[in-house]
Amino acid sequence: MDKLLDFTGQVTLITGAAQGFGALLARALGERGAKLVLGDVKKEALQGVVADLQKDGIEAIALDCNVAIEAQCKAMVDTAIEQFGRLDIAVNNAGIGQPLELTEDVDDATFDAQWKVNVMGVQYGMRHQIKAMKPKGSGTILNVSSMAGLGGAPRLAAYSAAKHAVIGLSKTAAVETAALGIRVNAICPFFSLTPLVTNSALAAAGLDQAKAQLSRGAPMKRLAEPEEIVNTMVLLLSPGNTYLTGQAIAVDGGVSAM
Ligand SMILES: NC(=O)c1ccc[n+]([C@@H]2O[C@H](COP(=O)([O-])OP(=O)(O)OC[C@H]3O[C@@H](n4cnc5c(N)ncnc54)[C@H](O)[C@@H]3O)[C@@H](O)[C@H]2O)c1
Repeated sequence: MDKLLDFTGQVTLITGAAQGFGALLARALGERGAKLVLGDVKKEALQGVVADLQKDGIEAIALDCNVAIEAQCKAMVDTAIEQFGRLDIAVNNAGIGQPLELTEDVDDATFDAQWKVNVMGVQYGMRHQIKAMKPKGSGTILNVSSMAGLGGAPRLAAYSAAKHAVIGLSKTAAVETAALGIRVNAICPFFSLTPLVTNSALAAAGLDQAKAQLSRGAPMKRLAEPEEIVNTMVLLLSPGNTYLTGQAIAVDGGVSAM
């Protein structure tokens, strides 16, 4: 295997791994040799993902982890160390959407939910991941933001605010830890048809119509396949990708170039 894509023995934690990007990433890294500690609130779905990985000889552990609860984020790090001896890679991927509403209509409960899961979920994760990586002087963290974290996202004010915060957290942690051998980046995908989008209010109004409307505004005239986002995650996490830190990488088929 090409050294750049060789994750043999890399102890990797992924939150939100029961479906969507998280589940695909688990398989992509597992097939390249990573040892996996996977968390999600969807216990049964996660156990199914882990059973499939194990069937194919991939080492993987499922943990019941709500990223809004710090103790459960810490338990993922503790499990990586107890079971595999260290933590090399952490992907703070778990996230939730929000109802489509104009800014003036978004209520406090929507902001609170975004803050707890999409912002504190990343902070709780990094708090314990960085502490585990510091003593060994190496580690890679990837936080999943969004194109909504790089610019305004009409009718998604709370989600956009939360995803902007993920970039602020990622850049700050990157600067603080760069000299310690730790890399921290954020990835900012454009719309991709994972369950987050196909089960959203946007899709409820008609998935084909929503897809066509979003695609029209994109230079490639299509949305991303979930695998395309995950392939970029793999490249960002590559053990050979040693000088890239503090970046918010748009994976958007050229949307942000316009
Ligand atoms: N799909 C897209 O178009 C898109 C675009 C930009 C960013 N994102 C981001 O990508 C990440 C992954 O989303 P996805 O598209 O794969 O969605 P998804 O809904 O398919 O997967 C998200 C996973 O996170 C889990 N999760 C939700 N809340 C959780 C919590 N509190 N604790 C632990 N797990 C929790 C869900 O159960 C689910 O398994 C999210 O952060 C999302 O905001 C997605």
